[in-house]
Formats: sequence, structure tokens, C-alpha cells
Amino acid sequence: MDTANGRGTLRFITCGSVDDGKSTLIGRLLFDAKSIPDDQMQALVNDSRKYGTQGERIDLALLVDGLQAEREQGITIDVAYRFFASAQRRFVVADTPGHEQYTRNMATGASSAQLAVILVDARKGVLTQTRRHSRIVAMMGIRHVVLAVNKMDLVRYDQVVFDRIDAQYQAFAADLGFASIQSMALSALEGDNVFAASGNTPWYRGPTLMSYLNAFEADGPELAASFRMPVQSVSRPNADFRGFCGRIAQGEVRPGDGIKVLPSGVQTQIASIVVWQDELEAAASGDSITVTLRDEVAVGRGDMLVAADDPPEVADQFEARLLWMSTQPLLPGRSYLLKLNTQEVTASVTDIKYREDIDSGNQLAARTLGLNEIGRVNLSLARPVVFAPYSDNRTLGGFILIDKLSFETVAAGMLVFALRRASNIHWQALTIDRAARAASLRQSPRCVWFTGLSGSGKSTIANLLERRLHAQGLHTYLLDGDNVRHGLNRDLGFTDVERVENIRRVAEVAKLMLDAGLIVLVSFISPFRADREMARSLFKENEFLEVFVDASLATCEQRDPKGLYAKARRGELKNFTGIDSPYEAPLAPEVHLQSTSTAPETLAEEIAQRLEIKP
Ligand code: ADX
Repeated sequence: MDTANGRGTLRFITCGSVDDGKSTLIGRLLFDAKSIPDDQMQALVNDSRKYGTQGERIDLALLVDGLQAEREQGITIDVAYRFFASAQRRFVVADTPGHEQYTRNMATGASSAQLAVILVDARKGVLTQTRRHSRIVAMMGIRHVVLAVNKMDLVRYDQVVFDRIDAQYQAFAADLGFASIQSMALSALEGDNVFAASGNTPWYRGPTLMSYLNAFEADGPELAASFRMPVQSVSRPNADFRGFCGRIAQGEVRPGDGIKVLPSGVQTQIASIVVWQDELEAAASGDSITVTLRDEVAVGRGDMLVAADDPPEVADQFEARLLWMSTQPLLPGRSYLLKLNTQEVTASVTDIKYREDIDSGNQLAARTLGLNEIGRVNLSLARPVVFAPYSDNRTLGGFILIDKLSFETVAAGMLVFALRRASNIHWQALTIDRAARAASLRQSPRCVWFTGLSGSGKSTIANLLERRLHAQGLHTYLLDGDNVRHGLNRDLGFTDVERVENIRRVAEVAKLMLDAGLIVLVSFISPFRADREMARSLFKENEFLEVFVDASLATCEQRDPKGLYAKARRGELKNFTGIDSPYEAPLAPEVHLQSTSTAPETLAEEIAQRLEIKP
């Protein structure tokens, strides 16, 4: 637990460019704090001989560059958490790499830190990388910065150099919103001003790094703010006990307090607060607890317990900042899984307002975000979530986006504010419902979704199927890519982003048509699995039939009914599916047709057999 004078553990992050001496600085802290176990010390001595860059001296950087791969490449490649302690308190340091492509690791390290130590090499001053790191640190909600002007020994401990870098950084950071910036003149290698004030810098009036870290008062949790606790799990060890476990994100709680369960809105009171075997009188922000409630109410993971007299905002449309962390670009309109503390919900980016130039902070127009890019976007969620703006509370406003198929974390995000506009649109209850419409047409509505390469035969087969259904007296509609692109989707081209939007719109139209009672045939290349899955998710289980019209690229190219393959091969048509734009074949379509070897009439018949359409 915390040390005698009550100053809690300090979590901080170090960032700097390659060769700024970050590893050496952390090594110095661990070494001088005597936080190195004997066996590791011995290994360090051995390693210094083998890999060291410091001649006969111990190479402190090797203490932290723990991974073999890092040593051999001479760079740091992941976030590593280091622990050490002084007489006053404990420290957790997130050591993050300086390479540009590892921005995501930096954001990860920064998300739980209270302070950032940003290193610059005294010989080089403030670099692009320094500005980048500072922006990310600010974006992640860190409010206090130490500018560690390192390697002062290599500039002969020159005050002029230090003052210039200090002034340059203060000017740059003025509008990043930091609450404090403390510049320090250091040499991690020589130990100047790390633990002891250095005789080499008599002009330096600031604290040593260690005395600053010891004295640093982290911004305390806002206890005055109202109670909120996202529920992580339900604890039910026996029939008599039902507790709800979680970490308090904000405020305080006591037995007897009135609370609301969100989103249900059910109201009750806290009966007890339990930690291990003990019952507590009170618990506060940051504490992990289990509570029991006065009444038997339905509560599960993803719900939030909140102060009854001051419930938080709930919304499903937001303006947010995103740090894109995937090599696959952001596609507006695509649905991702959004995780906000313990809440999980499907979400999509409806609009990219701008991309932020990470070096200058300028706002740039953008249609997508790539790896390590930061943007301001509008988000639309499938249902409302309980939240607070990230600037008020990192737990209640910080989220990640996950790709639904690969489960990769593709972005870290911060909710800025809720957009009221869309939340004021309500569902209009209609008297004639879809069942009534379907009944009067005497059929079961269906969506038959054809996918396949251009020239695979989708439209031909869809057309034959529609004729056959029509002849049976059924009510149908055929949505064809080429036709819809003349009207509704006239504004869309063939980039990935535009195809996603193309499919989103046509899926929504198909959904309306099913609501109207129709049997809808959709014939679009629809090359991306994720978007076909999105379309599927709009319909009930048996309503949606994915038909994969399978023909090899060679066959389609040979048919080339519109001469487009030839054009694409000549380089006159960009982003052509199968040539320079991908097609992701379905993994488990309801119907898989081989159009190379079988006549379209037979294939249309095969689908008709699969469709059981009765009222
Ligand atoms: S989708 O990929 O967004 O689903 P969609 O089915 O609407 O495509 O449109 C495909 C049709 O547009 C093709 O059949 C072809 O006639 C035409 N087309 C024009 N340019 C391209 C292109 N770059 N890639 C694919 N199809 C194209």
C-alpha cells in the first residue's frame, strides 16, 4: 500500500526520440534508487561487457532494454512497465519507444499515466518527434510534463543551450493545455540532477528529477463529482449473496446511498460495500469494490451504477477524437465494436471532420485515417451508452474500436461531447406494421444478397430469379449495383471508403423494402466481408440469404461484358475489383454457385428452391 506520508504510487511515462537517452535515464533511476535485484545486477555487468556501448562502464540502458531483440537491433520496440521505489513513494514508469511507427504504444503507455517525462537531446533541441509525443501525451489527458533536457554533459553544461530549448518548448506547448511544464537540465549518463543537484550546473535553479517525482502531487480523483461505477462482473458465491464488482470511476459511495442502474434506470440503495472479507464504510474513485444492493434488481456486466440524484448523460451520437492504430485504414460507415469501460456496442464513424497534423496541429481534410493518424470524427452507436467527456474523466470517456472480424484493436478514442441533433430523432410508431404489409402481399419478405466479381454473372442470375418469382405472383424488387449507382449512389466512386458507403446505403434500402413486404434481390460486387456481415445484421436470421456467385478472375476477365477488365489492365481504370482492389470471398454463404460451369437458368432455379416463401 502507500508509504507513510500518504503519497500514492506515481505512474509516469517517458518519451523521447531514438538516442535521446531514455533507457539510460530509466536505468539511472532504477540504479540509483537501488531497485535492482542482485541477480539482475550481475547480468547487467555481464551484458555491459557483451553488448554495452559504454566501454568498461556499466551500460544502464541495458537494464531497461530487456528484450533480446531490442539489444540486437539497438532500438526499443514495445511498452515496458518498470517499477521502483524511493523512501517516499512507489513509481511505475511506462517506457515507450521513440520510433514513429510505435505511436500506438505511446498512447497505450500514456493512457494510465499522471505525468510525462519528455526527453530531448541537448545537442538537438525540440524535434518533430518531441512535438508529436507532446501532442499525444496532451491528447491522452496527461496534464503535467517534465521536459528533460538530457546529455547536458555533451554541451558543456551550457546554460544558454538549456534556456533556448526551454523557451522553444514552452512556446510550442503553450496551447496544448498542460497544467505544468518543468524543464530540467540533466545528464542521465553522468547522473547530473537526477538524484543529486549537480555541481556542473550551478546556474540551474530547478529541482532534481527525483526530488520532483517524490514531491509531485497527482491531480487527485474528483471526489466531489458524483458516483459512477461500471459493472465488471456479478459475484454469486452462494444463493444468499449477489454482489456487483467494479472499479469506481468517479466520486464516493457509502452504504445507504441512493443509486440508479443504467441503462435500465431502476433505482435502489447500496446495502454494503465489500472488499475481500471486509465491509467498508465508504469507498472512492479508483477503488475496486463489490457492492450489494437493497433490492433484487437486474444488473450485469456493462451496466453502470450511478448516483441517483445526479445521473450522467446517456447518448448514442458523439464527436470524438481517434488515434488510428491499424495498418488497415478507417472506413467511415463500417461497423466496429466500441468498448467504453465495460460497455460494448456496435459503432461506426459517420463523418471525418478533419485529420490533425500531428506536427503542426493543423486541421486537414480527410476521407480516411491511416496508421498513427489522429482525427476528429462523428460517431454513431447502435444504442446509447453512459459516458462523460474524456477531458472530465478518462475512464468514462476513453474507448477503443475493435475490428469485428479480426478482433484487432484499430483505434483508441476519446469522447469529446454528445451530439444532440441525432438523439432528438425518435422512432415514429406506425399503425400498419411489417407483418401486416407482408400478409397483404401473401409472402415472407426476403433479402437475397448476390456477391461476386464483376462479370461473374450476378445480375444475369438475379434477373432470371426475379422473372421466375414474378411469374409465381410474388412481389419483388431487384437492386442492381450499376443501376443504383446512377441515382441514389451517384456521388460514390470505387475507393474502399466509397464502396463501404455504397453497401451501407443499399443494405438500408433493402431493409426498408423488406419492411414494405418485398422480396429484394441485391446484386452488388460487395467485395468486403465486414460490410456483407453488416448487411446481414440488419435482418432476421432466416430473412437474409447470401449468394456467392463464384467465377474465377480469368473467366470474368475473358467474358468482360463491359470491356472494363481490359481498361483496368491498360491502367485506364483504377481500383478495379480483382485487379488492383481486393475481393474477399464469403466464408459461409447460404448458397455457393459455380457460374463457370453451370448455366444461369439452373443456378437461378437452385436459389428458388432454397427460398421458402409463404405468407
Ligand atoms: S461495389 O464494389 O461497390 O459493390 P458495385 O456492385 O456497386 O460495386 O458496382 C460494380 C459495377 O461498377 C461493376 O459491375 C462495373 O460495371 C462498374 N465499375 C466501374 N468501375 C469499377 C471498379 N473500379 N471496380 C469495380 N466495378 C467497377
